[in-house]
Amino acid sequence: KRIAVLISGRGSNMLSLLKLRNESDFNGLFSLVLSNKADAKGLETARNEGIETVFIDHKAFPDRESFDREMHATLLNHKIDFVVLAGFMRILSSWFVEQWEGRMINIHPSLLPLFRGVDTHRRALEEGVRLHGCTVHYVVPELDAGPIIAQAAVPVLPDDTEENLASRVLKQEHILYAQALKMICNHTVCLEGGKVLYQKNG
Ligand code: GRF
Repeated sequence: KRIAVLISGRGSNMLSLLKLRNESDFNGLFSLVLSNKADAKGLETARNEGIETVFIDHKAFPDRESFDREMHATLLNHKIDFVVLAGFMRILSSWFVEQWEGRMINIHPSLLPLFRGVDTHRRALEEGVRLHGCTVHYVVPELDAGPIIAQAAVPVLPDDTEENLASRVLKQEHILYAQALKMICNHTVCLEGGKVLYQKNG
């Protein structure tokens, strides 16, 4: 599979995914990193890792879908088969999501279906949940509502701040996302009829 990673910022999840290149039984190919922010730190990281990068400024387009159409054309030009969202902070149009149905995943920093959307760590603290975590899911048009592939949980500790809860979750994101992408590339997981299907081996 030729993989594109879409980012908007720091790119720590992207970097942890790129480490899959060191695993001999990983058969994905990271072909492109795309950002909608010129100053995304992850763009520089990707270049240092020898990955081709593209910046597409969403502000240069009159509406969401025309930006998405430009992204889609770029992905096709690079012969991308699979899209990985890693801190990509743009809501995608239904049109775009439908083009990549079953071929696009996201990581969300909460135990879905709890805390869809932004500020998940603050909301987890406010609600007083004792378990929090992250979720890898296929992307569907409804935000953070797609079929769940994998989850990891962390405890919420009594003195937690948003920052240290976020960093505890982020550590798990890095592990979980790589595991999930590897399972997909090795055909251990796929989406069929809107449901996640797990197979024993590839
Ligand atoms: C992660 O917490 C991810 O779950 C969320 O945005 C953050 C991105 O961090 N959607 P990074 O850019 O991967 O470092």
